[in-house]
Amino acid sequence: MNIKNIKKKIYIKTWGCQMNEHDSSIIKNILMRKKEYILTNNPENSDIFILNTCSIREKAQEKLFHQLGRWKKIKTKKPNIIIAVGGCVATQEGKRIYQRAKFINIIFGPQTIHKLPELLKQAYKNKKIIIDINTKSLQKFKNSINTKIDKKFTSFVSIMEGCNKYCSFCIVPYTRGKEVHRNNYEIISEIKKLTKIGVKEIILLGQNVNAYNVYDNVYQKKYNFSDLLYEISEIPKIHRIRYITSHPMEFNDNLIEAYKNIPQLTNFLHLPLQSGSNRILKLMKRGYTIEQYEEIIRKLKNIRPKINISSDFIIGFPGETKEDFQKTLNIISKINFDTSYSFIYSKRPGTRAAKLIDNTPIEEKKKRLAILQKKIIQQSFQWRRRMLGTVQSIIVEGVAGNNIQELRGRTENNRIVHFEGHPKLIGKFIQLKIIDINYKTYLKGTII
Ligand code: SAH
Ligand code: F3S
Repeated sequence: MNIKNIKKKIYIKTWGCQMNEHDSSIIKNILMRKKEYILTNNPENSDIFILNTCSIREKAQEKLFHQLGRWKKIKTKKPNIIIAVGGCVATQEGKRIYQRAKFINIIFGPQTIHKLPELLKQAYKNKKIIIDINTKSLQKFKNSINTKIDKKFTSFVSIMEGCNKYCSFCIVPYTRGKEVHRNNYEIISEIKKLTKIGVKEIILLGQNVNAYNVYDNVYQKKYNFSDLLYEISEIPKIHRIRYITSHPMEFNDNLIEAYKNIPQLTNFLHLPLQSGSNRILKLMKRGYTIEQYEEIIRKLKNIRPKINISSDFIIGFPGETKEDFQKTLNIISKINFDTSYSFIYSKRPGTRAAKLIDNTPIEEKKKRLAILQKKIIQQSFQWRRRMLGTVQSIIVEGVAGNNIQELRGRTENNRIVHFEGHPKLIGKFIQLKIIDINYKTYLKGTII
């Protein structure tokens, strides 16, 4: 066999948010276009190891070195393997990762992933560490879809990268850089291409999607997030539009009005609140008050009475008192949040909150987190219970299990539903009646 024809196997491991998941799928697309590479799920026989990291909370960093330790053992046996570390920890720690793990070959950032083929070539030629983490490029999005790999009905579409908000607890503006917004024509063209391979639902992606605004060179005018939503809603095959993550500060009346005019916008909104105390929100530098947040929700519910709202919460932010925490619990009941994410505050180096005095014991924070999570689970269950007997629209995603007649799809409010149906329904947008809510991970429905 000609040795040149043997493809190099690539193993990719991803941690973190949807941004990172999407970045990893772009990495796959970019590398699979090159004939010399093939993906593998088995690290033992891989030639190239790529770790796409996350640094939003502290744990991720230590996890990185544990993972690298495991790969070091493989490299001791097979010295020619290449190890590349990318993502937010890479941007944050840069060369320091190499100083602790001298056996790695490449360090790349979230905005240099399009250079990976070139970096890999260099790494094979030259054994010196290659570090390329400069930020501020949207080049990678030129490769964000690959019609061969992305054969599915739901797809992420990145519209921007980075964040200018500098919430006092958050590392993202430092690791992903300042906001850069993609050209509107490029986004629309990507969505149209996706519809050609069957995509019916898109999830617009960015750290701060509703801050999106560009200058439309053709019509010579400003073009913002609502403009984008209206334009997408005119693409015939897109049945559903979701987005993550939006910020309360830029949730303006135009965007609220869009919920009246665009039926494709789902009855589900993830709008991070973080805390129910105005004092803490101020320390977090979130830029809104509880009253302003409630006003957004009130206006939205006027238009969409059944909309489900989910949120992110940070527990134990420096100085959070029992009273502050109680306010968070109160607002959770008042807004009646659906399934939400909650995290114990993690001190991130270089952020403004890192300088604040934090004297709440970790045991107390864990207790608060448990109370909050229990409450969210109860509320989420009530939302689920209210779905019994209702009619829900779903996109049929595939077969549910071993039984080919049992299919699955997802409701607007993110619940998986199983139902009996012919596999030819896969990819179709259909209506189901919810008939059973007693299974743990899914609901049961029947076609109507
Ligand atoms: N852009 C989004 C969120 C990005 S990070 C927004 O506007 O909210 C995702 C979530 O991680 C945040 O909403 C926050 O709840 C959590 N998070 C971010 N930094 C954190 C930290 N230092 N400690 C704990 N949780 C954090
Ligand atoms: Fe982080 Fe706040 Fe931006 S949470 S991503 S700095 S909106």
